Amino acid sequence: MLIAQVSDIHIDFHRDHPDEPNLKRLRQVLDRLVNRPDRPDLLLLTGDLTEHGDAASFAELKAALAALPFPVWPIPGNHDARAALAGAFAQVPQDGGFLHYAVEVGGLRILMLDSLEQGRHSGAFCAARGQWLCAQLSAHLDTPTLVVIHHPPVVSGIDWMDPGSAEPWIARLGDALAGQRQVKAILCGHLHRPMATTFAGIPLIICPSSAAALALQLDAIDPGHADGRAMIIDEPPGFALHHWDGERLVTHFALSPAAPVLVTYDAKFKPLVQQMLSERD
Ligand SMILES: [Fe+2]
Repeated sequence: MLIAQVSDIHIDFHRDHPDEPNLKRLRQVLDRLVNRPDRPDLLLLTGDLTEHGDAASFAELKAALAALPFPVWPIPGNHDARAALAGAFAQVPQDGGFLHYAVEVGGLRILMLDSLEQGRHSGAFCAARGQWLCAQLSAHLDTPTLVVIHHPPVVSGIDWMDPGSAEPWIARLGDALAGQRQVKAILCGHLHRPMATTFAGIPLIICPSSAAALALQLDAIDPGHADGRAMIIDEPPGFALHHWDGERLVTHFALSPAAPVLVTYDAKFKPLVQQMLSERD
């Protein structure tokens, strides 16, 4: 099963632009996902779907996704608003004011979490959300599970975006996930760069952004001194494809449009392919 992940679309960042660049960037990613033989079985949208969280932006997003031949499952990020997201995506249930839910597909449970706290850029995961996650995990101990959340609960090194390592919401999420061996990976967005690490002993994968990327700059930032460093850069829109084989998740990161092709699979290349495949045991 192939799971696509698109994150941080930020529709309407350029609000008055006649051809909204972030909508155009999203269309480039969707075009890649739809018009290739390795078309995904479903699409996860992992937050910051809009810049301002308003209903008009969600309507634009919904229209861009309308003709997709696979299901779409969204969660909110810090730029979104729950009511507008739920209004646009009828498939998203509301539970006690939160947009968290389980998707069951291909023998896998995908737990879509809600880490939004309105008015705050950083993540949140309160006791009510923690109880929901614990109940979901304890009710399905033997079912392979992915946990999907906008905010990575880790210090990444992109200093200005990072939480404090001891924030209570991170500890609460860690407590809920500790020892849950059925959780095969945690999928996040928010950082606008591809990254891989672990959290609570579980692989944690951060998807690149559909909107502009953040600069890779790992030295500390001084809030009192604007040093002129690069903050946001014009990389092509990114996405992730996660391949689930029933036991293991393998994640690929890519950009759309893809880089220029240097070599194709032609008669000259064919002997190498044949030799490589013949070496399989
Ligand atoms: Fe974002």
